[in-house]
Amino acid sequence: MRTQVAIIGGGPAGLLLGQLLLKQGIETVVLERRSREYVLARIRAGVLETGLTELAAEAGVAARMQAEGLVHDGTLLAYDDRSFRVDFETLTDKTVLVYGQTELTKDLYDARDAAGGTTFFNCEDVTLHDIETEHPSVTFTHDGQSKTILCDVIAGCDGFHGPSRQAIPENKRREYEKTYPFGWLGILSRTPPVDEELIYANSSRGFALCSMRGTELSRYYIQCPLSDSPDDWEDARFWDELKRRLPEEAADHLVTGPSIDKSIAPLRSFVCEPMQYGRLFLCGDAAHIVPPTGAKGLNTAAGDVSYLYRALMQFYSDGDTHGLETYSQIALQRVWKTQRFSWWMTNLLHRFPEQSEFDLRMQRAELAYLETSEAARRNLAVSYVGLPY
Ligand code: APR
Ligand code: PHB
Repeated sequence: MRTQVAIIGGGPAGLLLGQLLLKQGIETVVLERRSREYVLARIRAGVLETGLTELAAEAGVAARMQAEGLVHDGTLLAYDDRSFRVDFETLTDKTVLVYGQTELTKDLYDARDAAGGTTFFNCEDVTLHDIETEHPSVTFTHDGQSKTILCDVIAGCDGFHGPSRQAIPENKRREYEKTYPFGWLGILSRTPPVDEELIYANSSRGFALCSMRGTELSRYYIQCPLSDSPDDWEDARFWDELKRRLPEEAADHLVTGPSIDKSIAPLRSFVCEPMQYGRLFLCGDAAHIVPPTGAKGLNTAAGDVSYLYRALMQFYSDGDTHGLETYSQIALQRVWKTQRFSWWMTNLLHRFPEQSEFDLRMQRAELAYLETSEAARRNLAVSYVGLPY
């Protein structure tokens, strides 16, 4: 089989790239390790930057998100039983859209089917070949049969655990990593959100986040020890702990109910440099991971997709390889700025085991400064709503 761009990974990054390219008549094949049902069952964050919603519109998949998504023009930060608002619209003239990433992934799969895009699910032994040449290929096993895809370019959109990043020779790549000494215990409940906006809370008992997937579906997180498992947290214990970490007024308004999903995720900051090697280009989690505190996972991937999509359009329209040659350099500029914001938000809002009393006072002073300084809130808002591509 031959195609122009072989996309490894049928998550949001791979699908968004595939849809953008298909609309430009550039042939793609998506290779996904899991089933479609498995991919669509993953619970993921749901705060979309304007850049991502505009890219989704360019890909022709924004109709449902615009109809069902919730426009948020601010967020609340809480500490010491106080809370204050960061007004995105006043500070940046921008807003964000709250719309489940699982929904966006579903919209992308539906659009790919409608456009006649080729997707192989349940692919095994996906292996990249000849990526240093102008004729790379991908081999894989599908339905027990060995298959080969000849292509011009491979887009590695296969997440942190995929084969693409590993295809870059170890002596040609440099990896930067920071792990955090806690996890996020998250639950989904069919209850109305505690507030119309998200609440990020720094409490003496640890971080808490109140988010949502709509007006009748709430998503809550609390910082927890990495040694915990979801079974340690029956619903009543979770709700009690969440209430203890929220300002009293929010705790009093919290509507509790049975959890329909409960999981613990570790937090990690990670960047691989470069994000390309020969005709292999990494996008999204294949190249970088952020702690979820700033809701930047998919939003950073969207920046990568935008750069690679436009570089490929140049390449196929007039053979101009400049965009492809500079992809990693350009993408990493935005990746590192987003890494900084996610790292800063994580340090601002979480309790760390080794924090001294002075460290705690610095954290509180940073929050008090945000509460009292418009300039400080604008600095947070500019990154939260999304840096330009
Ligand atoms: N072969 C084919 N597909 C693979 C392989 C493989 N060997 N390994 C992993 N994959 C698939 C995974 O099953 C997954 O569907 O690659 C996809 C990667 O998708 P994500 O992990 O969601 O990463 P990405 O598309 O980069 O999404 C970026 O969006 O969903 C959010 O927070 C999430 O930070 C993430 C961001
Ligand atoms: C979520 O809704 O899952 C979510 C929202 C904001 C974050 C992280 C996760 O910063």
